[in-house]
Amino acid sequence: MSLSFHGQPMSVTEANDRRMSCREFIPDEAPSHAEIHKLLADASRAPSGANMQPWRCYVVSGAARESLIGAVGARMAEGELPSDSAEFAVYPTRDVLNRPENHAMRDRRRKLGFGMYELMDVKKGDRGASFNALRRNYEFFGAPVGIIVTVDKAMDKNAWGHAGCFLATLCLLAEACGMATCLQEAWSQYAPAVNSALSLDTIREAVWCTQTSRRRSTRCARSAIRRRASRRSSRPRCDNNIRI
Ligand SMILES: Cc1cc2nc3c(=O)[nH]c(=O)nc-3n(C[C@H](O)[C@H](O)[C@H](O)COP(=O)(O)O)c2cc1C
Repeated sequence: MSLSFHGQPMSVTEANDRRMSCREFIPDEAPSHAEIHKLLADASRAPSGANMQPWRCYVVSGAARESLIGAVGARMAEGELPSDSAEFAVYPTRDVLNRPENHAMRDRRRKLGFGMYELMDVKKGDRGASFNALRRNYEFFGAPVGIIVTVDKAMDKNAWGHAGCFLATLCLLAEACGMATCLQEAWSQYAPAVNSALSLDTIREAVWCTQTSRRRSTRCARSAIRRRASRRSSRPRCDNNIRI
């Protein structure tokens, strides 16, 4: 896949700098199946131990996307909360996060959460509005194409590292050809609904997810600029994760 946006070549550094989690998409600007297929094929050049590639991708658009959104929406309408049926813990519990050795992670999460809600005009303490913002996850934030990524349970926890390399590569390649993405662990929190909507083999697969849309739309670009501003101010550098 050539790294170019509007015909302009884009370096990996630039794609990395431009990439951000997009949470506002124009629904009717969908990439074609051929574009998505190429994106996935190119992303599968990502490093993978022993080249085992223990992931699978399920691309949903149109009726399949609607049916997936409907399946999770029905669980939410019944009062099921995210994580009630999750197969694995997405975040540590509050007790674990409150241990001194985990304060750095806890504080980053809080800062990001407040910054994100501010961008979404959700006032602190407004539970209804924050739930509605959370719900947008389960509508792919309006993205016309969703890609549910699963990891192969036969690989145990090690599969996540392989899948992470794949997803990071996918996000950068998408960025370089003008597609916006947002990785979403949120879908894994309704795994049974996703499993049944997509007829997944639950013995082998655990649900993960990303999503994409063609060329950044005006709305998306505006959101990108706002997000970037917030990222600069609110996304802390993780120097304590780096050992040289
Ligand atoms: C493993 C992983 C899971 C994520 N899950 C979600 C999610 O469920 N919903 C969401 O809105 N963003 C999700 N994100 C996006 C992160 O919040 C985002 O990457 C982080 O805040 C940094 O911002 P940036 O991607 O805009 O640079 C996820 C990112 C990663 C890497």
